Amino acid sequence: MTEAAPSIVHLRDVRLERGGRTVLRDISLDVPKGQVIAVLGPSGSGKSTLLAALTGELEAAAGTVEVFGRPIPRRNRDLLELRKGIGVLLQGNGLLTDLTAAENVGLPLRAHTRLPRPVIDRLVRMKLHAVGLRAAADAFPRELSGGMARRVALARALALDPPLMIYDEPLTGLDPIASGVVMALVRRLNDTLGLTSIVVTHHVHETLPVADHAIVIANGGIVFSGSPDALSASPDPLVQQFLKGEPDGPIGFDAAPRTEAA
Ligand SMILES: Nc1ncnc2c1ncn2[C@@H]1O[C@H](COP(=O)(O)OP(=O)(O)O)[C@@H](O)[C@H]1O
Ligand SMILES: [Mg+2]
Repeated sequence: MTEAAPSIVHLRDVRLERGGRTVLRDISLDVPKGQVIAVLGPSGSGKSTLLAALTGELEAAAGTVEVFGRPIPRRNRDLLELRKGIGVLLQGNGLLTDLTAAENVGLPLRAHTRLPRPVIDRLVRMKLHAVGLRAAADAFPRELSGGMARRVALARALALDPPLMIYDEPLTGLDPIASGVVMALVRRLNDTLGLTSIVVTHHVHETLPVADHAIVIANGGIVFSGSPDALSASPDPLVQQFLKGEPDGPIGFDAAPRTEAA
């Protein structure tokens, strides 16, 4: 750890269980402020489970989980406070279909602040502008392309100015061009707003170009941690199998029967 960049996320020897079964073990990870980290791995490897530990949705069965330099609080009120500092973009967007783009982005502001209406409207316009969608403020989700809807969801995740952004499979269902737009936006927002970003994905080739650091999760643990260049050059057969998307090899894909649409 350099003293210039404190860890926004710090995990030490963490074990995570789901339904009484260990999903991840011996997880140690530091995410320095300002970085974009790619968390890669096949479906069912435990990527979303890892994110759940950061938001306090899932309590670690062992080890230390710290976000913003503090252990995950257990008291409900403190947990809600922590979550306001974490912007989460989930796979399904979660946009409310009967609200406009602007109304969707304004939801967290109406729920968590007592700001007057004109201030909220202004903040909403700023967030939509940040994702390049100011002109779409009055559109309903059904009137937006997949990529635009994803960017509205991103603007909503940014509404409360969270210092940490978490993206769970932000490219699912997007075509290559929209994927490129979303990933470039992830990087640009990270740098212009001074954020720290964790991008969970199995889309290696779209994500690595914008990442500072990559980890690969497979077989219940971290099998690689290093720069994107080092990842591409890794001689590890497990890593290579994942990078090339090969079904046969050291990663037991049979253990992860869930398949997501590629
Ligand atoms: N709520 C849950 N209860 C029981 N098992 C779960 C739950 N969520 C996930 N799992 C299991 O944990 C493993 C990791 O899942 P997940 O973290 O969603 O993987 P990924 O996000 O990498 O696709 C899978 O085997 C999955 O079936
Ligand atoms: Mg997942």
